[in-house]
Amino acid sequence: MENIEKKPKVETQNTEVETKHKHKHGEALIKIKDLHKVYKRKDGRETNALNGINLNIYKNEFVCVVGPSGCGKTTTLNIIAGLEKPTSGSVQMHGKEIVGPGPDRGVIFQQYALFPWMTVKKNITYGLKFIKVDVPTVIIDKNTGKQTTVIKQRHYTAQEKRSLTQHYIDMVELNGFENSFPKELSGGMKQRVAIARAYALNSETLLLDEPFGALDAQTRAQLQEDLLKTWEKERKTCFFITHDVDEAVLLSTRVIIMSARPGQIKEIVENNLPFPRSQATKLEPEFQKLKNHIWDEVYQMYLDVRK
Ligand SMILES: Nc1ncnc2c1ncn2[C@@H]1O[C@H](COP(=O)(O)OP(=O)(O)OP(=O)(O)O)[C@@H](O)[C@H]1O
Ligand SMILES: [Mg+2]
Repeated sequence: MENIEKKPKVETQNTEVETKHKHKHGEALIKIKDLHKVYKRKDGRETNALNGINLNIYKNEFVCVVGPSGCGKTTTLNIIAGLEKPTSGSVQMHGKEIVGPGPDRGVIFQQYALFPWMTVKKNITYGLKFIKVDVPTVIIDKNTGKQTTVIKQRHYTAQEKRSLTQHYIDMVELNGFENSFPKELSGGMKQRVAIARAYALNSETLLLDEPFGALDAQTRAQLQEDLLKTWEKERKTCFFITHDVDEAVLLSTRVIIMSARPGQIKEIVENNLPFPRSQATKLEPEFQKLKNHIWDEVYQMYLDVRK
């Protein structure tokens, strides 16, 4: 039986959704234009990983990306992170072309990517030495007495680095493991270190590649709640890849559904579920409606790939 309730109105990319977002949020923070990526394999053959991705990401959005394995989610994230070059097309942030990694984009990788030779504490502290903080400084003109404020920059002090590191260790509940090495931690604990490390950088944007994918259900639920609380407080712009449709609907303000190779955006779903959200939000009829719609789309692609 076709359940009409299961089919919410879906707005598609580049038309209503983009226009509406522009009105709501002003200029896009990240602009992805006609992005293509072709990988050359060792055997000389080519993989067409991305085939024309167009997407605007606005400040304070929480964008979740879902889609079948191999559809180019990680490739897109790596290009935004500046770790991978597109074959053609462009990604701009604040109107400037992204040419490499930067502290304005914190990344949490699909594999934890911790430094194995550093302790938990050192893994988190490491990136902080690259961060500069703004210091407003008042300058007084000797002749006129006129005061102007200029923004100078400085690095964190050792004390600031220590206290930031401890704050984020507390947040992911790794107290007591500060001096452990990654090999001494479980998969879930390693991922929590990676999360703490990215949060500590306080980047304008967080790029998260299935950050909770390898975690047990309880840890995952707890970290989802933490992320929701942090986002509700700071509204950091997030680009979050997941295979879990429940997770996408719980966390996002928009869900991007990508289609199987060559990667394209199939659909963009607006998620207007109100905040604050928690695990209990999953019981709301509106949550179920969105989840069923997205799940139908993703499952249909999975069936198509198997044909
Ligand atoms: N470095 C690489 N060299 C060659 N091919 C690559 C490389 N990285 C990715 N690919 C190919 O590009 C396509 C997209 O890969 P990508 O990792 O972006 O997919 P994904 O959507 O993140 O998948 P998953 O959900 O499994 O993580 C795949 O076919 C993959 O084999
Ligand atoms: Mg991936």
